[in-house]
Amino acid sequence: MIVNTALVLATLTSFGSVLATPQAAYQPFPPSVGPPQAPLGNCDTPQRVVGGYIASWAAYEPKWYLSDVPYQDLTHLWYSFIYLRTDGGIEVGDPDIDLYGLTDEEKEKIVSNLDTRPPPEDNPPQAPLNSTLQPGIPFDPPVGKNQTENIGLKWLRDHKNVTGDTKVMVALGGWTWSHNFAAVAANETKRGVFAESVKGFLNEWKLDGIDIDWEYPTDPRVNGTLEDKENFVLLMKELRASIGPEKVISLAVSASTIISPEKNNQSLIQAGIDVKLADYVDMFNVMGYDFAGYWSEVVTHDAPLYGNISVSAAIAQFKEIGIPASKLNLGIPAYGYMFYNTDGTGMGGNMSTEGNRIQGTWDTAENNMSWTGNFDYSHIQQAFANNSDWTYQFDNATAGSWLWNKEKNLVLTYDSAEAVQVKSDYAEAEGLGGMFVWELSNDRAGDLVSVMAGVVEQPEAPETSSIPSEKTSTVSNWGPVQTGSSSPHYRRSRARRAGRV
Ligand SMILES: *[C@@H]1O[C@H](CO)[C@@H](O)[C@H](O)[C@H]1NC(C)=O
Ligand SMILES: *[C@@H]1O[C@H](CO)[C@@H](O)[C@H](O)[C@H]1NC(C)=O
Ligand SMILES: *[C@@H]1O[C@H](CO)[C@@H](O)[C@H](O)[C@H]1NC(C)=O
Ligand SMILES: *[C@@H]1O[C@H](CO)[C@@H](O)[C@H](O)[C@H]1NC(C)=O
Ligand SMILES: *[C@@H]1O[C@H](CO)[C@@H](O)[C@H](O)[C@H]1NC(C)=O
Ligand SMILES: *[C@@H]1O[C@H](CO)[C@@H](O)[C@H](O)[C@H]1NC(C)=O
Ligand SMILES: *[C@@H]1O[C@H](CO)[C@@H](O)[C@H](O)[C@H]1NC(C)=O
Ligand SMILES: *[C@@H]1O[C@H](CO)[C@@H](O)[C@H](O)[C@H]1NC(C)=O
Ligand SMILES: *[C@@H]1O[C@H](CO)[C@@H](O)[C@H](O)[C@H]1NC(C)=O
Ligand SMILES: *[C@@H]1O[C@H](CO)[C@@H](O)[C@H](O)[C@H]1NC(C)=O
Ligand SMILES: *[C@@H]1O[C@H](CO)[C@@H](O)[C@H](O)[C@H]1NC(C)=O
Repeated sequence: MIVNTALVLATLTSFGSVLATPQAAYQPFPPSVGPPQAPLGNCDTPQRVVGGYIASWAAYEPKWYLSDVPYQDLTHLWYSFIYLRTDGGIEVGDPDIDLYGLTDEEKEKIVSNLDTRPPPEDNPPQAPLNSTLQPGIPFDPPVGKNQTENIGLKWLRDHKNVTGDTKVMVALGGWTWSHNFAAVAANETKRGVFAESVKGFLNEWKLDGIDIDWEYPTDPRVNGTLEDKENFVLLMKELRASIGPEKVISLAVSASTIISPEKNNQSLIQAGIDVKLADYVDMFNVMGYDFAGYWSEVVTHDAPLYGNISVSAAIAQFKEIGIPASKLNLGIPAYGYMFYNTDGTGMGGNMSTEGNRIQGTWDTAENNMSWTGNFDYSHIQQAFANNSDWTYQFDNATAGSWLWNKEKNLVLTYDSAEAVQVKSDYAEAEGLGGMFVWELSNDRAGDLVSVMAGVVEQPEAPETSSIPSEKTSTVSNWGPVQTGSSSPHYRRSRARRAGRV
């Protein structure tokens, strides 16, 4: 159990006003007249954002390369993750990938100066699923297209002819690498080093901007204190002054609205996000996923749009703070989590707390104490979505989609194209800046990106069932956000085992 119990037990806020019924009618937005245009910077997002994070480690598995990114549908690409040094400087995350194509000499110069990094913390071990209960559906990841040269920062720099109008950015930090943010933001000298370093990095690699993925300001698990809020503003102020108005700054932000006594009865959003940030940054990427997973105690949605604890509740809280809707991007997961030992009632029902782990798409057999039950969207489409053992469900109350294997009491919560369509309609109705996905290599056919981009219209599902969840209140997205396939150390350790890193 990775979730901080004190925080989970905290009281809940309610957002009755956001429990609106999703719009049924689909309207393309923006009108389909050519490829979407990227915002210009200047702290402004005049047109709809359709963004995606790409994990550098996708090159290991599922062998998905920068040349596979659907640039024609994307206004923004966030190459993830690079590292924040103790001294405030920034540097590459995985040199083998990021620095691919440099000469040995050039590479060595950078590698010899990398900051010392704390060893990655593995997910807390937990007894695995009794294997007789495994769904038993094999997954054959696609064979690599042998485009292994199409990786890293040099490729991005050299292929403006491929990336086109897409703003190409780097994402800094992430769940595994957020431990230095608090100290850097608190120290004037380090803030200066940071601002200069980002400027140098963006210029060197000809990048359009940077995504600050501090997970999360004020979170004690990454040395956070309540001073982070003020310091974050100072850090962004200095960064904007350094890199100028044309570069894009985005923030990846939590969607947790759960009130914590340690934070003076504020949520993670309220405690960490100051409205003044909007003066300096172009967009806030609201990570509207990981509301549920293997750490949960009841069967509930991974990324519910509606409900007391939901994506719309988070969006409402950002608006309350004063962040303009046009600077908010709604994030969707291109993955889901599977629950086993459910009580037969499906979504909203009880689940055995005795070892909630099941083997997900990228979990290896030998690492069975750290299984995540994380299934990527392409795998879900291949193995479950069209499998007669599973029935597709759409819960109107939350706009959450899920798959149910009643026979084996398995529930898979994920975002279907239908769910993403509903979120897209919501984003339009709320006047949001746009949407984004974590993570592009988990949606290898680009299905969800197409929906976000308004390129395809999703038909209404022919048969849906509504099973309102009564127990979402006990579940937190506070926990291991960006775990499983989204966790850099997770994928990297797989690669390391395979002898590639
Ligand atoms: C959600 O909020 C509504 C309105 O405040 C409240 O009536 C309801 O009990 C809440 N539900 C949960 C599960 O907390
Ligand atoms: C695994 O589950 C099966 C079926 O429920 C049961 O018969 C068996 O005893 C379980 N094995 C272990 C080691 O728990
Ligand atoms: C987990 O792995 C261990 C050792 O690798 C193995 O002995 C055990 O049978 C595995 N358990 C399951 C449920 O697969
Ligand atoms: C992949 O490309 C490399 C050179 O870039 C080549 O040596 C290798 O044989 C290729 N492998 C396959 C399976 O095509
Ligand atoms: C883009 O430019 C690179 C390097 O100049 C070249 O190798 C590649 O063929 C070009 N690709 C396209 C699609 O034009
Ligand atoms: C931050 O936390 C990490 C562990 O996550 C620890 O190793 C490090 O010393 C801490 N840094 C500061 C400045 O407190
Ligand atoms: C800020 O960081 C600098 C450089 O590491 C250090 O010399 C200085 O003591 C720090 N200031 C404070 C107040 O910790
Ligand atoms: C937080 O809420 C609790 C319960 O409502 C209350 O007792 C406490 O005084 C509040 N703390 C602060 C700092 O407002
Ligand atoms: C779920 O478990 C709780 C506590 O163990 C119990 O009160 C509740 O009735 C259960 N719900 C169902 C649907 O079985
Ligand atoms: C689903 O399965 C049916 C029957 O095997 C097949 O005709 C159909 O093409 C499949 N659909 C998808 C989306 O894979
Ligand atoms: C869910 O919503 C759709 C569209 O509004 C509606 O047609 C359908 O009847 C609803 N289903 C249930 C079970 O309420």
